[in-house]
Amino acid sequence: MSFDLLVKNANLPDGRTQMDIACKGGRIEAVEAGITAEAGKVIDANGRLVSPPFVDSHFHMDATLSLGLPRMNRSGTLLEGIALWGELKDILTVDAVVERALKYCDLAVSQGLLAIRSHVDVCDDRLTGVEGLLEVRDRVKDYIDLQLVAFPQDGLYRSPNAEKNLLKALDMGVDIVGGIPHFERTMEDGARSVVRLCEIAAERSLRVDMHCDETDDPLSRHIETLAHETQRLGLHGRVAGSHLTSMHSMDNYYVSKLLPLIAEAGIHAIANPLINITLQGRHDSYPKRRGQTRVPELRAHGVNVAFGHDCVMDPWYSMGSGDMLEVASMGLHVAQMTSREAIRYCFDCVTGHPARAMGLEGYGLDKGCKADFVLLQARDTIEAVRLKATRLAVVRGGRVIATTAPREAELSLEGRPGRIDPSAFAPREG
Ligand code: FE2
Repeated sequence: MSFDLLVKNANLPDGRTQMDIACKGGRIEAVEAGITAEAGKVIDANGRLVSPPFVDSHFHMDATLSLGLPRMNRSGTLLEGIALWGELKDILTVDAVVERALKYCDLAVSQGLLAIRSHVDVCDDRLTGVEGLLEVRDRVKDYIDLQLVAFPQDGLYRSPNAEKNLLKALDMGVDIVGGIPHFERTMEDGARSVVRLCEIAAERSLRVDMHCDETDDPLSRHIETLAHETQRLGLHGRVAGSHLTSMHSMDNYYVSKLLPLIAEAGIHAIANPLINITLQGRHDSYPKRRGQTRVPELRAHGVNVAFGHDCVMDPWYSMGSGDMLEVASMGLHVAQMTSREAIRYCFDCVTGHPARAMGLEGYGLDKGCKADFVLLQARDTIEAVRLKATRLAVVRGGRVIATTAPREAELSLEGRPGRIDPSAFAPREG
C-alpha cells in the first residue's frame, strides 16, 4: 500500500514514542511503530513531538490586528476597550475586516492553529463584521475550521437592535449563539438575556458560547443561570461559558455549590489567561486579584476546560502572536499549575479540550482522524509549553501547508559549543 504522507519516529502527546503516522486521502490510516510502506512524502520527526493542531475556542477575529484604530486604549480596561471598539465599529468596512482576518489566519496557520471559534459583534446594524467573517470562513475552510458566534457586544437588551441583529446574523449563517449577561443594565436583565439566548439556541438546534461574568464582581452569578438553562433546555455538552472570571472573587462556599452545577450541565469552561491577567483587578490597589477563573477546581469537578487567546493586537490587548503555547504557558502560571501532569493538562487546554468544546469532527491522532497535525521542535508537551516550541511543519489533510526552520543559535565562545538547540537542555520526561 502506498500512502500520501508518512511521518516517522514521532513522540505523541499521550507519551507514546517512536511512532509512525501514515496518511492517505486526508485521513490518518495508521499510527504504529515501524511502518515500512511507500509514501509520496516522508518526514522524519526524529523523536520530536507530533500533536494534533492547536485549537483556539475563544477569539475576536472582527477586531484583530486593528491596534491603534482609531486610537490606543489608554486605561487598559475592558470597558475602555468596549468603548474604543464602538468608535472603530462605526467606520469599519467589510473589506478591512476581511483583509485583517485573512492576515491573522495566515499567522494562525504558521503557528499550527487550525481551528478557531471567533465571536463576531452583531451590535452594528450594518452587520459589517458578520458579512466579513462569513466570507473569511468560506475562504479559509480548506485550512482552518472557523466557527462564528453571534455576539451582542453591547448587550442583548442594552443595545436597542441587538436581538433583531443577532437573529439576522444566525439567519445569514453564523453558527453559535453568544451573549454578555454581565454587561446588561441590571442583574435581572442579564439573567433574562441568558434565558432568551438559550431558548434561541434550543429552537434552532445551535450551540451556545457566552461571555459570562467577565468581571471582578463576586456577585456576578450568570453562570448559575447558564447552567440552569442548559439543564432545563437539554443543551448538555453544547454550551460554553467563556471567561467566568467572577468565580475568582466569589465566596468559597458559593463556589462549592456552583461547581457541581456547571459539571452536571456539561458546560465547557473557556478561560482566556493572557487577557484576563491584564484586564482583571484594575480597580484593586494591592493586593491585585489575578482574575482567572478557578481552573484546577473546575478540572477536579470533571469540567472540560479550554484556554483561549481572545485577542491579538486589538482594542483590548496590544500583544499576541497567535501562539497557543504562549496562552497555555500563561494559563499555567496564573493558575499555579506547575506539577508535571498539570503542565501536560495545560497543553491539552489548547488542543484536545477546545476541540471538544467546539465539537470538532475527526480531531486527534488515531486511525480514521483527519490528517491534521503539527511537528514541533520539542520532545514532549512540557517542553513544547516551556519553549513555545517552533512549528517545524504544519499538516492539513495530509499535506504540509507551513514550515519553519528549527530554532538554533550560533555561539562564538571559546571552549563552548558552536551551536545550541533550545530543546536539547534536559532529559525527556514524557
Ligand atoms: Fe472575548
